[in-house]
Amino acid sequence: MKADIKLVAGNSNRALAEAIGAYLSLPLAKAQVRRFADMEIFVEIQENVRGQDVFIIQSTSFPTNDHLMELLIITDALRRASAKRITAVIPYFGYARQDRKAGPRTPISAKLVANLITQSGVDRILTVDLHAGQIQGFFDIPTDNLFAAPLMARDIKENLDTSNAMIVSPDVGGVVRARALAKRIDAPLAIVDKRRERAGESEVMNIIGDVSGRSCILVDDIVDSGGTLCNAADALLANGAKEVFAYITHGVLSGGAVARIASSKLKELVLTDSIQPTEAVKVAKNIRVISVATLMGEAIGRTATESSVSSLFD
Ligand code: R5P
Repeated sequence: MKADIKLVAGNSNRALAEAIGAYLSLPLAKAQVRRFADMEIFVEIQENVRGQDVFIIQSTSFPTNDHLMELLIITDALRRASAKRITAVIPYFGYARQDRKAGPRTPISAKLVANLITQSGVDRILTVDLHAGQIQGFFDIPTDNLFAAPLMARDIKENLDTSNAMIVSPDVGGVVRARALAKRIDAPLAIVDKRRERAGESEVMNIIGDVSGRSCILVDDIVDSGGTLCNAADALLANGAKEVFAYITHGVLSGGAVARIASSKLKELVLTDSIQPTEAVKVAKNIRVISVATLMGEAIGRTATESSVSSLFD
C-alpha cells in the first residue's frame, strides 16, 4: 500500500512534513522547490510519480502568497508528471478569515483561493480546524477538515487540573469550537463578549459566565496579533479567574505577537505545529507546541487505503 504513496513537502513546514513521513515510515519524495533570481518559484519533482497517490504537505502560512504559489506550482508539476491522485494537505489554510463579503466591493478571498487550488489540479483537501467549517463547501472536491480538539483534550487532561477548569471562548464566533472542547473534558463554558471597534484592534467587553476562582482555558482557531487572546486573559483575571491558559490551533503570530504573549498574564499558550514554530516561539517561556503529525499522518494513511477518517474526529 505505502509503496504507492508519495509525500511531497513545500517549504512552509518541512519539520511537520518530516514528522508525518516518520509516522508513515515514508521518506519525503525528492523534490526541489526553489527560486529564480527574480523570485519566481521553480519546482522539480526528482522521482517518478506516475500512477501514484501523492500528498503535498504545505501550509499557506506566512509568507502566505509565496506558500500558496508553491502549492499551486507543485500541483502542476505533479499533474504533468501523471500522478494518479493529488491531495493537498494544508494544515493551516491561509485566507480562511476572508470567507464572506465583509463590506461592499470586497472579495471572498477564501473562495478564490479554493478555486485556484482546485484549478491547479488538486483532487482532495486535508486540513485542520478551518476557520469556518463552511469553507469546505468552497471546494467541489472532497475536503476533510480534521479537528485538533482531541489532541488538546488529551493534553489538558495530562497537564492541567480539570476539576476546576473552565473552557472560555474569546469571542462569540468561537463558541461552537469551545463548547466541543468543554464537552470533551467535561468542563463548563464561559464566553468573552468582545467588540472590535476598528479592524486590527480588539476590545474586551464582558464575560458571560462566572469565572471566579477558575482555571480558565481559552480556546481559539487562530492567534494572530495576540490581541484577542491577551485582552481576553486580562478580562478573565479582572473577573476573578485564578489563572488563564490557552489552546489555539494555528499560531499565525504576526508582528510582535510572541513578545506580547510572553509578557502577558497568560500562564501558558499551547499551539499546534500546523504552522512551523519560529525560533521566538520555541524559546518563549509560556508557549508550548504539540504536534498534529500523528493526526495528519493517520488521515493520510487512511485516505490512501480508502478507509474512514471519521474516528479521528472522536
Ligand atoms: C477570529 O475570528 C479568529 O478566530 C481569531 O480570534 C483571530 O484571528 C485572532 O486574531 P488576533 O490574535 O489578531 O486578535
